[in-house]
Amino acid sequence: MSEKKAKTAQSAKDSISLNKFNKKSIKGARFTLMISSAKGGVGKSTFAVNLAFAFQNLGMKVGILDADIYGPSLPKLLNLTGKPETKDGKFIIPMEKYGAQCISMGLLVSETTPMMWRGPMVISAIKTLTEKVLWNDLDLIVIDMPPGTGDTQLTFAQSVKIDGSIIISTPQSLALNDVRRGIQMFDKTGIDIIGLVDNMCFFEGDDGKKYNIFGEAGVEETAKEFGKDFLGKIPLHTDLRIASDKGRPLSLNADHKISKIFNDLAKRIKKTNFE
Ligand SMILES: Nc1ncnc2c1ncn2[C@@H]1O[C@H](COP(=O)(O)OP(=O)(O)O)[C@@H](O)[C@H]1O
Ligand SMILES: [Mg+2]
Repeated sequence: MSEKKAKTAQSAKDSISLNKFNKKSIKGARFTLMISSAKGGVGKSTFAVNLAFAFQNLGMKVGILDADIYGPSLPKLLNLTGKPETKDGKFIIPMEKYGAQCISMGLLVSETTPMMWRGPMVISAIKTLTEKVLWNDLDLIVIDMPPGTGDTQLTFAQSVKIDGSIIISTPQSLALNDVRRGIQMFDKTGIDIIGLVDNMCFFEGDDGKKYNIFGEAGVEETAKEFGKDFLGKIPLHTDLRIASDKGRPLSLNADHKISKIFNDLAKRIKKTNFE
């Protein structure tokens, strides 16, 4: 094929894949960042919240959208209580905590109410969270995704314009298989993967010795396998867990050594993706 023909074919392909879905930007925010993993319990929500406040530390105006309908954790992670106000019975005003605008299914129903919903109800809830929330002049929305490759992921992939995603995993081979599935889903649905992050990748004892509790280098190797960037490692740290349980994210304390990892990551991503 001539170079010109190849270019035309590529641009036709691009326009088909872009037009396949009518993806809309979330109103009220310049950029949208998705934090995901195909597996639960690898630290997505912890990472999403701490990275969001690291972006805030850089002077960005940040919103956090908890898209985990079955297991919302934003209210607990931010010690956020009460219900958001509505406007004209149609729109939801996000709640504000520590300077960030926040929305979560856990704020709309009681946090401990089990959501026994079928797919269409989840899709409709995601539409509400992405289309009916009155975000106010944000630089960035950080989306905390549920685990898996199910209805929530597909609804986002088909209807919301996402500027980039980060995939979190622990280095355990059990988790990495799910990561491979997650990467392929994003590639297929045209969501840009900024890179992969290794969470809980080691624990540093009082003796300074590092323990690779969940294995070693697995996330970095998986990134390489798929030609994706490896963005860095977050250690397993008691202060992160304690701060989460208290509902005051560690990265609000910008001087903590773990916060410095988040701040550095936010700085790099801002430069490459959000300027
Ligand atoms: N780097 C870390 N160090 C210590 N504890 C962590 C770390 N990352 C996550 N956790 C803890 O692990 C548990 C699961 O994290 P969570 O963010 O809820 O995962 P997910 O959203 O992927 O299900 C929580 O108790 C959280 O406090
Ligand atoms: Mg979570």
